[in-house]
Amino acid sequence: MVTSSVCPDPSPTASTPSVRDEIAALLPQLVAWRRHLHQYPELAFQENQTAAFIVQHLEEWGIPFEAGIAETGIVATVKGLLPAKDGPDKHPVLAIRADMDALPVQELNEVHYRSRHDGKMHACGHDGHTAILLGTANYLWRHRTRIGGTVKLIFQPAEEGPGGAKPMIDAGVLTNPAVDAIIGLHLWNNLPVGTVGVRPGPLMAAVETFECEIFGRGGHGAMPHQTIDALLVAAQIVTALQAIVARNMDPLDAAVVTVGELHAGTALNVIADTARMTGTVRYFKPELEGAIQKRIEAIIAGICQAHGASYRLDYEQLYPATVNDAAIAELVRSVVETAVETPLGIVPECQTMGGEDMAFFLREVPGCYFFVGAANASLGLDFPHHHPRFNFDETALLTGVEIFCRCVEAFCP
Ligand code: NI
Repeated sequence: MVTSSVCPDPSPTASTPSVRDEIAALLPQLVAWRRHLHQYPELAFQENQTAAFIVQHLEEWGIPFEAGIAETGIVATVKGLLPAKDGPDKHPVLAIRADMDALPVQELNEVHYRSRHDGKMHACGHDGHTAILLGTANYLWRHRTRIGGTVKLIFQPAEEGPGGAKPMIDAGVLTNPAVDAIIGLHLWNNLPVGTVGVRPGPLMAAVETFECEIFGRGGHGAMPHQTIDALLVAAQIVTALQAIVARNMDPLDAAVVTVGELHAGTALNVIADTARMTGTVRYFKPELEGAIQKRIEAIIAGICQAHGASYRLDYEQLYPATVNDAAIAELVRSVVETAVETPLGIVPECQTMGGEDMAFFLREVPGCYFFVGAANASLGLDFPHHHPRFNFDETALLTGVEIFCRCVEAFCP
């Protein structure tokens, strides 16, 4: 365990350091926390050591919190001490969310802080997200005399699935006090360190999955007239599903239908009795919810009927699209552009068909999810997310803390 702590707030003097200098002083801590968490990755809803590490620091600093929300989730609350500008009832409440789970990946990085949990790895950067939110909590708590609102710091489990955002919302984390807006970030190796991906509207895609089984009638490979070939039916379905994006969607709306698995048949001279396929669907527009699902089922039903086969379809809507509120996205953008002391490149063209359960928070309250560029090719820190050699430039941790703290300054003046 890392047990060192950050010094308490020095009383403001004429030589008070700049926000940047104060946040920059946190870097060794941020790196130490991140590397500690990196060594002890935990999967969805098992983030017990991770939660204990967070709690230990919150207790040490004296920040009030509630733990054990949706299994391992934590909400810490930093109440600003400035009187609210528009009266006590108008005290703005901003939530900041970080995910803290790891992936079932065997780490291949040869760093001294490599994963000590066999078969588990922080291969998406959530160790960094947790460290950033801890640093943010520490900074805000020490400077709460400068905050005119309340900040709820949400440490969320299970982002990689089955999803911890929804159970945390169901447990009431956005109420009492009611959250007015929410922000969150992902360290992002698709962008170089020193850039930030922020945009209004859809940022990440809705994620849906399906599993389909086709039931035909097997038989001899030389006597097809006695059979219903499940493999042929499945092959036609795979091909026809591609017509959904090509012919049913407005070409200006992005969407993906991917069949990722197809299993059928046992021998070269046997006609397959059954076939099984799985796949995923992605799209941005919330209005498309249910629309692609309907087309998939219609195509499967139609082709099966044409061949006399039957089917079973399990379709699941996992995460909705991650859609940013225009006003909060503008707040984040202007913070990055005008308040962050080292100018960062803003990349509005940062949409991805990847999914995020931050989407559930953004469906409840206006907010903004954004990407903090973390790749550094010159240091070999540019492997993609979920890769066994994923790692990132740790100076991005500072960028994350600075943006969060500046957003609080702007939202809770
Ligand atoms: Ni992630």
